[in-house]
Amino acid sequence: MNSAGSARLHSRHPAGTGLRPSIIQRATESLSRAQVRMAREAGLYPFGLVLAHPGAPGGTGDAKDGLLNFGSSNYLGLSTHRAVIEAAQEATRRYGTSTTGPRLFNGTLSLHLQLEEELADFYGKQAAAIFHSGFAANGAMLSALLTPHDAVIFDRHSHISQRDGAESARIPIVTFRHNDVESLRRRIEGLPLSTAFAVCLDGVFSMDGSIAPLRQIADMTAAYGGSLLVDEAHSVGVIGATGRGACEHHDCLADVDLISVSLSKALAGTGGAVIGDQAAVEQITLTARSYIFTASCDPAAMGAALAALRILRNAPELPAAARRNGQRLREIVADCGWQAIPGDAPIVCLPVRNRISAVIAWRSLIDCGIYVNVAVPPAVPEHGCLVRIVATADHSEREFERLHSALLKTRQKLRKAHNYSEFRETKALSHQ
Ligand SMILES: Cc1ncc(COP(=O)(O)O)c(C=O)c1O
Repeated sequence: MNSAGSARLHSRHPAGTGLRPSIIQRATESLSRAQVRMAREAGLYPFGLVLAHPGAPGGTGDAKDGLLNFGSSNYLGLSTHRAVIEAAQEATRRYGTSTTGPRLFNGTLSLHLQLEEELADFYGKQAAAIFHSGFAANGAMLSALLTPHDAVIFDRHSHISQRDGAESARIPIVTFRHNDVESLRRRIEGLPLSTAFAVCLDGVFSMDGSIAPLRQIADMTAAYGGSLLVDEAHSVGVIGATGRGACEHHDCLADVDLISVSLSKALAGTGGAVIGDQAAVEQITLTARSYIFTASCDPAAMGAALAALRILRNAPELPAAARRNGQRLREIVADCGWQAIPGDAPIVCLPVRNRISAVIAWRSLIDCGIYVNVAVPPAVPEHGCLVRIVATADHSEREFERLHSALLKTRQKLRKAHNYSEFRETKALSHQ
């Protein structure tokens, strides 16, 4: 900028007036930052804990921190499977550590194409497209196929990545009550007859492990001329006789228009995919910004996911083991006094009163050597806080027993905390 231009800028924007908020200053002073610092210092911050091994229940080799992991999505234990590790190593040796470019430039490897072909074949669909995450796959699927003149109908518990995709493309959003097919019907009937719509939801809901009633949802969506998009992030490899997910479990694979999966859970890689008709998949890859303007998945992730998919296809006993361990987890949780949502998914949530109870439960379990996840606002509403426990195919009975005794202790601690807070509330009321 020349000096005249710079002078003009200064005259319109006088420095140091103190009127304009600074975004950095705002971040520096944010209340949530101070709260997180205090919680961390007190050992009560349940996020971002460094784990010696994020996948294997008790760690492997030297990677042992004494924590038993009941909070991973490594449902089949494949992230530490010898053949999967070797496939990732071989892919890195052959192609390097990064593709350094998007699929449309230098970022397409034969590994991407092979995995797309095998995913499409696994689901009996025409085509698949791989994205750098399951999050991106969901957004791409919605933003590429729907317009601001259409509507997308979500279950109220649908994953945030689906909403994000719809919001970024300004697609009108309608929501129905969780797993309530009649509520879905009312929402569909509320749409103008000429509005194209898609119903989009999780096959297995990530937080509480509930399974969508997909048979009824597929029938209803088809009856009203809509399309059905199902996110099988937490169900691929686990639910259904051959691990194809909630669509297989409800025998409606053929009635689902598009399936999205994450490659970073049962399939032991990183990335996501959309699977469906050739035309729809092509439309997505031709228009989705998250496909076009970002580097493709790295070779190791593709090698690992491809090996994991092949293992899954040859070993239906693996999804069965994950589901069996899910049942064991439900028994334990029920024995400790919590009501678990029935079903096949190996995810169980313990509803707790509020974020303080969630952190008390988390800390108590960590003190007993057990790692689990917690969900607190903004991920869930204050009254929806929960502790999330996940079983995988390779948890042993001894490990379940350790969890059992830790949960019994935790239940007692929560009771004491509740009695104390009720006592304080009653006292406060009596002073009013
Ligand atoms: C239901 C659901 N869909 C999509 C995703 C995103 O998957 P990814 O981790 O591959 O981005 C998640 C992440 O946990 C999820 O729970």
